[in-house]
Amino acid sequence: MAPPELRNRPCGGRYGDIIQAIGHTPLVELKRLSPKPGVRIWAKLESHNPTGSIKDRVARALIEDAEVRGAIAPGQTILEPTSGNTGISLAMICRHKGYPLKVVMPDNVTPERTQLLQMYGAEIVYSPGNQGSNGAVAMALEMASSDASYYMPYQYGNAANPNAHYNGTALEILEELQEISAFVAGLGTGGTLMGNGRRLKEEFGDAIKIVAAEPMQGEPVQGLRSLDDGFIPPIIDLDLLDRKIFVTNNDAIVWTRKLLDEEGIFAGVSSGAIASIAVRIANELDEGNVVFIVCDDGWKYLSSGIYTRPVEEIENLDSTVWW
Ligand SMILES: Cc1ncc(COP(=O)(O)O)c(C=O)c1O
Repeated sequence: MAPPELRNRPCGGRYGDIIQAIGHTPLVELKRLSPKPGVRIWAKLESHNPTGSIKDRVARALIEDAEVRGAIAPGQTILEPTSGNTGISLAMICRHKGYPLKVVMPDNVTPERTQLLQMYGAEIVYSPGNQGSNGAVAMALEMASSDASYYMPYQYGNAANPNAHYNGTALEILEELQEISAFVAGLGTGGTLMGNGRRLKEEFGDAIKIVAAEPMQGEPVQGLRSLDDGFIPPIIDLDLLDRKIFVTNNDAIVWTRKLLDEEGIFAGVSSGAIASIAVRIANELDEGNVVFIVCDDGWKYLSSGIYTRPVEEIENLDSTVWW
């Protein structure tokens, strides 16, 4: 008998380099978290990107957009404020393409993040941790305005950020599902919600609800931001959101653990926050597909202990102490 024909799908694809391998992430059904048989919950596992987060898509888009416009060439120093993931993604891409990178980051992020950035050769400038990501944004803007030799992609105000999702993440989701009742993602820069929201609305109109998970003011969930803190990223169009639902830090931690214990998904803490909202939306539906984003994997949060300590203990953790 002739051997079966070898096809390059759906095994993950073949790519010329690691940058081209960004995206193409799996969409996985979470049956145990679904409240009723007619409602199916799907997790888009962005943790499967090369550096373990959704920001690989954005970092690639930011750099390639600047290259196409002729704004940068190898050797140019790139400067960007980031609470972690975008910096790590940029660091990988900049090392690969030959751009020195400086990231401005709050000084209270987990040590794993610092190590990953250093591993890829990035230089870190610390901003005061108690000012969160807004403090990092302000410091980077100040640095860029006083030194013209930096190129700052500025993901908060750069259309290449949502476009990475409009032309990537959303298309991959549409390839897999013919109906979607709700799309749930976290609100950081807003890129994920804007890019996916715009493309999915084009396809499904009002039949799909675009839902943002937003942390309560004063309860930081790493990767997410509260718009009540006073900074609304320029790329955000609030009219595109059907709902904005608050999550507590405690919910984020408990649901990160539920993803692990019930579904075997080793995700970062913002994904727990988003999952809690996805399940809440699923409870309100009689049937349909709910898609939510798993933004990153759990490796960078291991030192927090939330994956290994007894659930009763983590329920009362004050995450602001160890982030
Ligand atoms: C872990 C994590 N979750 C969620 C987000 C939010 O994504 P976006 O910036 O597209 O709103 C980020 C963004 O930095 C992140 O790092």
